[in-house]
Amino acid sequence: MQDYTHITVERASRNCGAFISGVDLKQPLDAGAYREIHTALMRHQVVFFRDQDVAPLEQAAFARNFGPLRKARRSAFQISGDAPEVSVIVNDREHPPYIDHYHADGMFRKKPEFASLLKAEQPPEMGGDTIFVSLTAAWNGLSDTLKAALEDKIAVYDFMRLHGSPEKARNWEGEARAGTMKTRDENPPVRHPLVPKHPVTGERCLYFSESFTGAILGTNKYESESLHAMLTRHCAKPEFQYRLQWRKGTVAFWDNIASLHYAVADYWPDTRIMHRLTVLEDAISAADSVAAE
Ligand SMILES: [Fe+2]
Repeated sequence: MQDYTHITVERASRNCGAFISGVDLKQPLDAGAYREIHTALMRHQVVFFRDQDVAPLEQAAFARNFGPLRKARRSAFQISGDAPEVSVIVNDREHPPYIDHYHADGMFRKKPEFASLLKAEQPPEMGGDTIFVSLTAAWNGLSDTLKAALEDKIAVYDFMRLHGSPEKARNWEGEARAGTMKTRDENPPVRHPLVPKHPVTGERCLYFSESFTGAILGTNKYESESLHAMLTRHCAKPEFQYRLQWRKGTVAFWDNIASLHYAVADYWPDTRIMHRLTVLEDAISAADSVAAE
């Protein structure tokens, strides 16, 4: 399709994801390379890099080129001793995986986070894939009847919809408790458009997840619950997905507005260690908007 001169981009599937090669994330890149990675991210909702042996500080340095980073908080995850923005997600015999639900990071926040960057530090020998869903494709895949019913709807997004569930009980225990309570208190339920226009591409996306989307305003309780069940099933259709098999050093970089992810919990009691960080705002598009004024 195109127009990249600093990177090579190959689509991972028809509707979701692309692999980027030709860059070493440990090294500072040309400004044009960051811009092209951003372009690929916007086009494909999630991009993947193989064989990137980045330490937490290097991962944070790379991500900072796309916008300011969130300082990690000790709740469910540990924090890297080297880079305070990097959460160390450890699942092992004592900590069974429990992120096996479709979600976008930070969907429950008043200002949702722009992007996340996850590196496989120690993938399990088998299993532990992550499924990514294009919410642009999910929107396009709805019938015109449903589109007409949903396109102007506002929905409630709630941290406690997921974190109040029995599956998340261990986030409320021990060392994790204070951080989880703080995140809850800082994030009361908020309202967002259910089908926003993406701020960069202008494309509509179905901003929905089984984990954080609650009531759909303008529908009654039973309609809302039925729509929730229907949209949960709809977003899980393989046609909108790409399923990534991690290798040590694989990095995934995803847009939290236009994609969902699901960590497949099929490797326990094997160990899976991942390094994650959050890019709060899209600095590259913001710079373009200023330049265009
Ligand atoms: Fe996540």
